[in-house]
Amino acid sequence: MARILITGGAGFIGSHTCVVLIEAGHDLLVFDSYINSSPIALKRVCKITGISAIEVNQRIQIIKGDISNKSNLDEIFKKAKEEKREIQAVIHFAGLKSVNESIKRPLAYWDTNVNGTANLLLTMESYECKRFIFSSSATIYGKPKSIPIVETEKINPINPYGNTKATVEKILLDLSRSDAEWCIASLRYFNPVGAHPSGLIGEDPNGEPNNLFPIVSKVAIGHKDILEVFGGDWPTKDKTCIRDYIHVMDLAEGHLEALNYLLRKKSEFLTLNLGSGKGHSVLEVVKSFEDTIGEKINYKIVGRRPGDTAKTIADPTQAKKILGWETRRTILDMCSDSWAWQTANPNGYKTGTT
Ligand code: NAD
Ligand code: UD1
Repeated sequence: MARILITGGAGFIGSHTCVVLIEAGHDLLVFDSYINSSPIALKRVCKITGISAIEVNQRIQIIKGDISNKSNLDEIFKKAKEEKREIQAVIHFAGLKSVNESIKRPLAYWDTNVNGTANLLLTMESYECKRFIFSSSATIYGKPKSIPIVETEKINPINPYGNTKATVEKILLDLSRSDAEWCIASLRYFNPVGAHPSGLIGEDPNGEPNNLFPIVSKVAIGHKDILEVFGGDWPTKDKTCIRDYIHVMDLAEGHLEALNYLLRKKSEFLTLNLGSGKGHSVLEVVKSFEDTIGEKINYKIVGRRPGDTAKTIADPTQAKKILGWETRRTILDMCSDSWAWQTANPNGYKTGTT
């Protein structure tokens, strides 16, 4: 089993991945600034995985810090070296992720997502830690020419957030060409949703949510009056947009498979789609949510949202071929696990202490 640094490990995808990695026997160092998360998520990770107070520093060491601060990062690798418990790989979730916000604050996005990642890679290089998994996004394909999307599709982001992800992928390619010892996987997520089935951890965005699942959940629990469905005139079967939703636990398991794969390798550069290969329309998501909660969701069709595309679906063949990984959970699992999290934590982590 390996010792892994997880940046952004208190966040939505990071916290679920921590659960899966701990259950698989890996020891973790979790590094997070909590700018978009809560330390309570990590307490819940310990609860789910049954880590006792005695085991806590051995199995999951929690460090508050910022990837923009190189000395924060250096400290972690230095300490691990002194303790002779070197870090074998890094999974890098830390970053800013709102498309809307990136349009308003591009410098903050370039600074955190690109400069912060460069700080991390420079630190890794100086400690000879050369296994790296990066959180990329399907957003780098922009408006793809063909569906389902294969990894060789043109990279053509249409917003600053997407530009930062595409830029990091270029950095990673240059790095792997410069030094064959790097083992890198850039994982392009489609639409991650859902929550751990325990209802203990889930998505808790700061401020007003923009994404479909958190909004549907808020309408279902009565914190929001109505869901606005963006566009009823798309060229799809029911005229609403189609997306490839992926359960966050399937996504977390994809990281475990990618990690185990890289740990066996001496040299690698992979770019992989992580999606289900299935598409669901907005109205199908609404219907699945209604079936889950046994009540109607209040919605109305409004105009299209700028920047949306009719259909986004992954071709996940490469991930299956290379990692032996594919999604297992259904859209109903995504709705019921989101609902379990929402009902147990109506205000996210804000009201909890443990
Ligand atoms: P999240 O915001 O829940 O998690 C990101 C974590 O990084 C948070 O805990 C945040 O506090 C931390 N963080 C942010 N800036 C930091 C900094 N400067 N230093 C240290 N920690 C910092 O987001 P998520 O949904 O879990 O996404 C994780 C990664 O996956 C992100 O890089 C995101 O861009 C990428 N991604 C997410 C989605 C999605 O839909 N959720 C889709 C594609 C790609
Ligand atoms: C968005 C981002 C994408 C990011 C992803 C994270 C844009 C253009 N893209 O993808 O880069 O990786 O979030 O999950 O912002 N919808 C409604 N009403 C709502 C909210 C959403 O109808 O109130 C529709 C949207 O039009 C879309 C679908 O639901 O068709 C999914 O939307 P969302 O969850 O925001 O994800 P994406 O737009 O696919």
